[in-house]
Amino acid sequence: MDRLDGPARLMIVSDLDHTMVDHHDPENTSLLRFNALWESLYRHDSLLVFSTGRSPTLYKQLRNEKPMLTPDITITSVGTEITYGDSMVPDEGWVNVLNKKWDRNVVLEETAKLPQLKFQSKTEQRPHKVSFYVEKGHAQDVISSLSDRFEKRGLDVKIIYSGGIDLDILPQGAGKGQALAYLLKRFKEGGKPPVNTLVCGDSGNDAELFSIPDVYGVMVSNAQEELLQWHAEHAKENTKIIHASNRCAAGIIEAIGHFGLGPNTSPRDSSDILVSKLDNINPSHEVVKFYITYERWRRAEAENSDLLIQSLKHICHPTGIAVHPSGVEHSLHACIDTFGPHYGDKQGKQFRVWLDRVFTSQIASTSWLVKFDKWELTDDGRQCSLTTILLNSEPGNPGAFSLLHVHQTWLEGFAARCQNDWIF
Ligand code: GLC
Ligand code: MG
Repeated sequence: MDRLDGPARLMIVSDLDHTMVDHHDPENTSLLRFNALWESLYRHDSLLVFSTGRSPTLYKQLRNEKPMLTPDITITSVGTEITYGDSMVPDEGWVNVLNKKWDRNVVLEETAKLPQLKFQSKTEQRPHKVSFYVEKGHAQDVISSLSDRFEKRGLDVKIIYSGGIDLDILPQGAGKGQALAYLLKRFKEGGKPPVNTLVCGDSGNDAELFSIPDVYGVMVSNAQEELLQWHAEHAKENTKIIHASNRCAAGIIEAIGHFGLGPNTSPRDSSDILVSKLDNINPSHEVVKFYITYERWRRAEAENSDLLIQSLKHICHPTGIAVHPSGVEHSLHACIDTFGPHYGDKQGKQFRVWLDRVFTSQIASTSWLVKFDKWELTDDGRQCSLTTILLNSEPGNPGAFSLLHVHQTWLEGFAARCQNDWIF
């Protein structure tokens, strides 16, 4: 919660399935575009919040399947669990709020009386969430019957229908919207309310997010009927909410531009990627671009020209060093020379590179340390290495820079690696 010194410039609160993650795109194109945009231009002063219906178990499973970033805050189980940071430290205050006026046993007793309700898997039954499947045709009847039953038992619960199949029962004070309201209240109390907040969703359990005062909202183009209908009935006049023309993460990028919340050109959107157009160096941006170029080179999506090798060399200091995870040192220029024969070696194969948790610290007037997790997805699986880059800008020419030192340590998937492996 306290990663940033000041208020977040932008806080994105996004649903995952069919919003941040497009399950119909095996290439994950828009997710990778978003990742590059976020890490190069937002990570340092903004907050990323994922808000999903999934339990922590299924959330972690999704993270292993898709090239997802590490959010600052993770809200799981339809707003009933809030956790902070990489290690997902739970917010105990939220647990205490939800414990009030909640009796899980009454929920189990009453739902057992309705045969149309089919239990979801064990992982999705959580302390403040009981979840079922209900056929679309039965949903309305089941919901009103349940509401009557709970009222008679004196239990105030929230019933949410999503995706035309999932039925969740939560404490009345829970849900994605309430969890966001709780977070915003905490930020306000800490004197750091985000400058702008953008909520993003596609289905029924996201509707609440759009009813939080003062937030911008994007319903992605592929939003479910139930969300669009909720919008038509409750928020039609709200100009801070759009129905994007693009699917999933591309819809989020579209909304950033539509509402003027900051830059929305992803480094993945440009082809002449190594050409820096900034007056002042942004080390995160340079590093993200460098790795996109590396990916494109090996996928044969960059031009196979000596010029590109020369410009890569140009940004590596002649005495620059790369330290391989095995401890072996190479000159950076020698490493760039090994690029040549690897041109297109991943063409037609699975090969993606993305950076996560890019953090930059200025260590002298013209020197920066950039630390990040570098992920690589290949046909053999995915690997992660913690990479640190020392970067210097040229005195008198603040837009120009050179890499001085690159140091990598394997974090995951190291068993598949050997000493001769690719250095970057
Ligand atoms: C996710 C959860 C499920 C929930 C649904 C809708 O799919 O796994 O338990 O019912 O979201 O909120
Ligand atoms: Mg969704």
